[in-house]
Amino acid sequence: MDLGIDLGSVHYMNRKTKPILNSTEQNHTIIQSTDELVAALSEGERTEYAHIIQSFNLSISDFEPFYSWSDECYTRNCIVENEKFELILLCWEKGQMTPIHDHGGEECWVKIIQGEFKETIYKMDEAGELKTVKSSIAKTGDITYMIDFMGCHRLENINNERSISLHLYAKPIRNCQLFDENSKTFVRKEMSYDTCMGIENLKQ
Ligand SMILES: [Fe+2]
Repeated sequence: MDLGIDLGSVHYMNRKTKPILNSTEQNHTIIQSTDELVAALSEGERTEYAHIIQSFNLSISDFEPFYSWSDECYTRNCIVENEKFELILLCWEKGQMTPIHDHGGEECWVKIIQGEFKETIYKMDEAGELKTVKSSIAKTGDITYMIDFMGCHRLENINNERSISLHLYAKPIRNCQLFDENSKTFVRKEMSYDTCMGIENLKQ
């Protein structure tokens, strides 16, 4: 898949030896738990995030503590949020999709933990109309990347059952612009979580 970026090595370059990470070769580590993933992101620079998100190969069960499901909308479940980054697990019932949205000027990586998604990218043309730029399919293990100059996008769970995706934002996205299908304009949306480390029903 063309991410528009060079993902390079599948190993996270660890500049200092971290006892919680298992070294497999000198100066390289493999991320083996969500705690190690959070540690790698916390200790790494933003320029290393593509490598980090590519490097881990956690099983779906590693993310089970963060699951929540809703028939009404996909859920946003916060794994960690700090001043530097935001790591969120999204849980999707069959057919659920996002509105068309931008990313508040931040970088966004999505790793498909399980399932299959359609990503459609849009851009405003010179007449101010939203046009489809590209549409692609992302499956388990795939990574997509977005930043606002690429346009805005929509993700849709096209799996025949539930899907799960991991979203890394750097920095955290406090608000973004959603495309209102009725008015054909973008409206500002304050972001919220459905769960945050066991705190339920935070979404307004
Ligand atoms: Fe997005």
